[in-house]
Amino acid sequence: MATPTTSSSQAANTRKATKVQPIIVAREIGKTYRSGKLEVPALRRVSFSVAPGEFVAIVGPSGSGKSTLFYTLGGLTSVTSGSLLIDGADFSRLSDIERTRMRRAKIGFVFQRFNLLPTLSAMGNIEIAHDIANLGKQSKQPLDRVLLDHLTEILGIRGRLVHRPNELSGGEQQRVAIARALISRPAIVLADEPTGNLDTKNSDAVLDMMRRSSRELNQTVLMITHNPEAAQIADRILHMRDGEITHIESGRGLVIHEV
Ligand SMILES: Nc1ncnc2c1ncn2[C@@H]1O[C@H](COP(=O)(O)OP(=O)(O)OP(=O)(O)O)[C@@H](O)[C@H]1O
Ligand SMILES: [Mg+2]
Repeated sequence: MATPTTSSSQAANTRKATKVQPIIVAREIGKTYRSGKLEVPALRRVSFSVAPGEFVAIVGPSGSGKSTLFYTLGGLTSVTSGSLLIDGADFSRLSDIERTRMRRAKIGFVFQRFNLLPTLSAMGNIEIAHDIANLGKQSKQPLDRVLLDHLTEILGIRGRLVHRPNELSGGEQQRVAIARALISRPAIVLADEPTGNLDTKNSDAVLDMMRRSSRELNQTVLMITHNPEAAQIADRILHMRDGEITHIESGRGLVIHEV
């Protein structure tokens, strides 16, 4: 794990000065769900760190704790043990309100089940995400129309923006959810199965965009996927099983197009 070390030697100090501080540092985090007397340990002593701009894929069987890991990284739920530093802030010690504030400012979330607001159009869903990201900021940023055009073009949803979620296909809803997560240029993008409902063409477009968000815009991207080929576009792949990281492998960092 690439956590900072304390050493008095000059060489170590020089190394430290040139080393990029990780944007995510998870140290032995645990999350146990409790309902009544029943306890479900969904995460057990998970440790890893992620550098700014890195693209990390998370793979593992159903129920291995992938979404739970994202809920803790995104500040949607608190860890039950361990510590979690997100951009220098210790999420394990922040109040719910403080975590929410951090999430709005820094994190874009693509949920496994989209979570679009049903009464708003696709455009309304994107706009409200932008407004929420602006809450509490001293100077409000106007909606970035150039980025909006770029995202809706790549995602192939430009003609669908006036429709409500129930008038969109599953794949279209998913692509709206991705545009919603990226519109405020969050430092960290957490995408839970972003290609789960997509055909090859749209899946490639989404993967390409995630790759560019990391490489060109220096956004830190974490993506859960069941697709081993999709995982290969990441810089690193974390394998999870039974709430633990079993091993970490290097990805190829490339989008693999089907022939
Ligand atoms: N709110 C909850 N209350 C109790 N147990 C939960 C809750 N949410 C998840 N779990 C349990 O925690 C474990 C991890 O669930 P999680 O949703 O993180 O898995 P996952 O790896 O995302 O699976 P999938 O690939 O199916 O989405 C599972 O055993 C699940 O049943
Ligand atoms: Mg899940």
